[in-house]
Amino acid sequence: MSIHKEVKKVTTHVLQAMKARDEKIAMLTAYDYSMARILDAAKIDVLLVGDSASNVMAGHETTLPITLDQMIYHAASVVRAVERALVVVDLPFGSYQGDSKRALQSTVRIMKEAGAHAVKLEGGKEVKDSIERILSAGVPVMGHLGLTPQSIYKFGTYTVRAKEEAEAERLIKDAKLLQKLGCFAIVLEKIPAKLTKVVSEELVIPTIGIGAGPDADGQVLVTHDLLGITKDFHPRFLRRYLELFDEIKGATERYIHDVKTNDFPNEKEQY
Ligand code: KIV
Repeated sequence: MSIHKEVKKVTTHVLQAMKARDEKIAMLTAYDYSMARILDAAKIDVLLVGDSASNVMAGHETTLPITLDQMIYHAASVVRAVERALVVVDLPFGSYQGDSKRALQSTVRIMKEAGAHAVKLEGGKEVKDSIERILSAGVPVMGHLGLTPQSIYKFGTYTVRAKEEAEAERLIKDAKLLQKLGCFAIVLEKIPAKLTKVVSEELVIPTIGIGAGPDADGQVLVTHDLLGITKDFHPRFLRRYLELFDEIKGATERYIHDVKTNDFPNEKEQY
């Protein structure tokens, strides 16, 4: 029997056991109560309250504008819905970089006010002090390497990272450092599949890929992309399971028609 089927509550130790048993980890984003309930009922292993909420929920072009207060609001809504999944919350831009005390304060707020189970932050050795301080408070940390959207203005584009040898070597070094510091897992975003394989084989902690090929120990997608709510986003790595933009648009058009033609509400739909 798979760990996924057996387990009633996913913890960081469960994820570690999944890697040890070669069982893939399934992770999706969630930002609100209703969606989190559905995903948790489907037995998703990890729910990430991603700072992609800045794009998906608030309509910003980047993840930079979202605030710690806003992340806590989204995270608390998700935590209220969840019975089984591990809930990981992104530390937003400006809440942890270059100031480990601030990183811990931001984390404490996320843990206390939202009831999260772990935090995620972007970067390698440049965020070492922040990771160490958060871990010293007993809070599990998920790393994030490769394309790190909070640094988009440094990269300039959202293209694949670590294609060149020097950057790939740096990424491997950073991944080993994050493991050594005590991170329980690492997201690898938009890197070559071959590099994901190397990193995943070298580490004992799980890797979770997005646009990083099949050899990560788990996969993550933004739920709104997977469901086809974000219509105009078509990266190669994305598999759409529904076309909800069109479904919802169609339902809304039918509702408008029914209201305008006096078809809704009918005799049975009134008191
Ligand atoms: O914010 C987010 O949704 C993420 C995932 C893409 C990994 O960081």
